[in-house]
Amino acid sequence: MMTADVNVIEEAVAQPVATPQVAPQIGLEQYYSEAGPDYAAWSPEFNMHFGYYRAGANPLNRESMLEQMNAEVLARLQLNDVAEPRLLDLGCGLGATLRSFARRLPQACLLGLTRVPWQVEHAQALNDAAGCGERVRVIQGDYEDTSLPRCSYDGAYALESSCHAHGADKGALLAEEHRLLRPGGRLVVADGFLGSGGFISALQRRIYRKLCECWVIEELGHLHLFTARLEQLGFTDITVEHLQLRVAPSVAHIPWVTLKFLLTDVVSRKRKMTRARWNNVLAPVLLPLVSAPLGPMTYCMITATKR
Ligand SMILES: C[S@@+](CC[C@H](N)C(=O)[O-])C[C@H]1O[C@@H](n2cnc3c(N)ncnc32)[C@H](O)[C@@H]1O
Repeated sequence: MMTADVNVIEEAVAQPVATPQVAPQIGLEQYYSEAGPDYAAWSPEFNMHFGYYRAGANPLNRESMLEQMNAEVLARLQLNDVAEPRLLDLGCGLGATLRSFARRLPQACLLGLTRVPWQVEHAQALNDAAGCGERVRVIQGDYEDTSLPRCSYDGAYALESSCHAHGADKGALLAEEHRLLRPGGRLVVADGFLGSGGFISALQRRIYRKLCECWVIEELGHLHLFTARLEQLGFTDITVEHLQLRVAPSVAHIPWVTLKFLLTDVVSRKRKMTRARWNNVLAPVLLPLVSAPLGPMTYCMITATKR
């Protein structure tokens, strides 16, 4: 079930945007453990991603746009003919997408991977509270190097987690998911990528580097390198959707959510503000300054099928 705007294929032609790697000063585990509870200010369901806006939806209802993003990922996994789908969430955070899928696919077997022990514990508690703890498993693991059996998943998806993978082509992540998917299995990746346009100034490049540092990202995926790697690994039906306008209504919530967070959590000093927590306040504020139309960063949903 593909939507009308799915078939925009990105040609792998552009030159790489030169982006030296960032060496974040805080580790991923520390960042997500300390800033993790703060994501409640963004989404009571702990959807740690942006929303997908569909015409007619209420752009003020952030949670429904975040949930719509889950639905869009699921639609692109194309599971209509699979009776008991086995699905893998690559970088599942606190498991909001897994729980959404569990509600929509009563027969599915769902496994989430995260590097962060704090998230494993809390995701499992949220799964149990939602009554799907039996069917949805969250384990600690590295999506670039799992010990999971090959060819054993009908679908795998990385929702705003591929940015943390190594390399501008995210090659290790893609190779591992190619190994894990069965022939005909689908991969869906939704995330920020660098497109073909460069930075307009040295200042914008510095802002990009700060943004990466805040969100513990070494470098964003470069769109054309990413799609070229998919092709090289043997994926087919590679499709790139540019979703900048779809996510814009939820991105527009950032100033309000940030202000509310500062006025409540920070001023009331509910929890000590650590560097990781400040980084999580700063990064979304920087985001529009490096994103299209001002900068080369663009939000894409990329889908592919294992041959
Ligand atoms: C921004 S959160 C997104 C969470 C979730 N996909 C969502 O949309 O709610 C990024 C997630 O990627 C996970 N992650 C980053 N690198 C990873 C790796 N190498 N292996 C597994 N998970 C990873 C982090 O632990 C975190 O849970």
